[in-house]
Amino acid sequence: MGHNFWLSGTGLIFFSQCLLTLCQNILDHPDQDKYRRFKLNNKTIQTKIIQAKGGLEYAVEVGFREHVEDFQPYYVWQPTPDNAANLRVGTFVLKEHHEKIVAKQEAARQSKMTHKEAADLVARQVKIQFEEDRRAMAAKQRIEAERRIALESLPAERPHRPTPVSALAPGSPERDRSNLEDDFKED
Ligand SMILES: *[C@@H]1O[C@H](CO)[C@@H](O)[C@H](O)[C@H]1NC(C)=O
Repeated sequence: MGHNFWLSGTGLIFFSQCLLTLCQNILDHPDQDKYRRFKLNNKTIQTKIIQAKGGLEYAVEVGFREHVEDFQPYYVWQPTPDNAANLRVGTFVLKEHHEKIVAKQEAARQSKMTHKEAADLVARQVKIQFEEDRRAMAAKQRIEAERRIALESLPAERPHRPTPVSALAPGSPERDRSNLEDDFKED
């Protein structure tokens, strides 16, 4: 896996599967000294940590310190409580980032779509939506216009009003019914 850069509180840091493995090994084998060190002249370490921008800084941040043994330069993890906490957090961050990268790669692989293809698809969808909106708007305007024309062609309607009770003859069935309805009205 290549080096992927991301921003952290300390600036640009890279993601390295190699560094994640080193950190995870210390957490998984807390009693084994052999997992607490890496050799600076190891070829894998050279390319995946030392030559990657931010790699050694990250190692130092989680608790590794330079240490010379038999004239060989190593980085050895120092088991202090602070370093233990930093290692846990650092490993968690690396792992999270690793999962994000894997998810992104998986999504890209599944869609098998380049950035341009994805952009073209979005553009097409926007155009289709725009055309649909335009057609829907035109149809709505046509219906409104037809309704207006139909209403205008109707003969003028006289508003219907019920005859007031007072205008009805006293004792007439209409007046009695109306009074009865008034008794049941609630205000
Ligand atoms: C170099 O480092 C890698 C990663 O830590 C390790 O797997 C490998 O065994 C090392 N090689 C030597 C020769 O020490």
